[in-house]
Amino acid sequence: MQNAALAALGLGEEWSYEAIDVAPEEFEARVRAMPAEGFAGANVTVPHKLLALAVADVSSEMAREIGAANTLIFRANGIEAHNTDAGGLIASLPRPPRGLRALVLGAGGAARAAIWALGAAGATVEIWNRTEARAETVRLEVTQRARELQVEVEVTTVRTGAPEDPGATLDQSGYELIVNTTAVGLHGEDPFEHLPLRRDGFGPGQVVVDMVYGDRPSTLLEAAAGAGAAVVDGIEVLVQQGALSLQVWTDREPPLDVMRAAARA
Ligand code: ATR
Repeated sequence: MQNAALAALGLGEEWSYEAIDVAPEEFEARVRAMPAEGFAGANVTVPHKLLALAVADVSSEMAREIGAANTLIFRANGIEAHNTDAGGLIASLPRPPRGLRALVLGAGGAARAAIWALGAAGATVEIWNRTEARAETVRLEVTQRARELQVEVEVTTVRTGAPEDPGATLDQSGYELIVNTTAVGLHGEDPFEHLPLRRDGFGPGQVVVDMVYGDRPSTLLEAAAGAGAAVVDGIEVLVQQGALSLQVWTDREPPLDVMRAAARA
């Protein structure tokens, strides 16, 4: 996707995007060596996103809010860290989330970025997670950091009536935006068995995002689209996040359609 975009921008000769594997204990030294090797920047993925923020001399407000970075740019005066996971999610939505009642499913790294992105953009966020305690930890963390940074973020946790009943569901029609950040569906699991949602509980006017992506539309998005909801898949979020990273590195307008086509190929 990035190489296709670089080619479309006429940068294909000078620039290339490549994968580098690195162990956490070598991360900092590896990153610090990169500018001298000719690297302009890097995308950083799990498990290095916290270290990526820590290694930076300067960081964007969003990276500090989320407490993690997925994009580094090497400047003459030091390493700069950004987080485009959040902006990528917002950019993939059909409308700005301000004022929407949003449900975020999950409490991992992807959930954290989504909660911050939506909360800071003015949505009211409710977090559901299979392990309730993790949802509560994330909520506390987000509220505390919001207080420190003096950002207005409205976030609560939500439970299904009976945690011991895997079939228990939430009143999903009450949410204007539903974002699945859990791994459910990644290995073919039925989302309606593992998440507190009903297959027939979606409706028009809702936006449903599934960060899980594979070769075909997810079961969750198929059901949502069938009911007239607007759907956004994980590839679109990935493309938008990648486009924002590309913009950080090159300062050029990303060729979104080229990136979409490459990501879906
Ligand atoms: P990431 O950082 O990519 O978001 P993670 O930290 O491994 O990934 O989190 C995975 C998320 O998927 C968690 O919210 C996890 O729920 P738990 O905290 O209860 O483990 C969720 N998840 C994974 N498998 C699940 C399943 N079968 N049913 C419900 N939630 C599931």
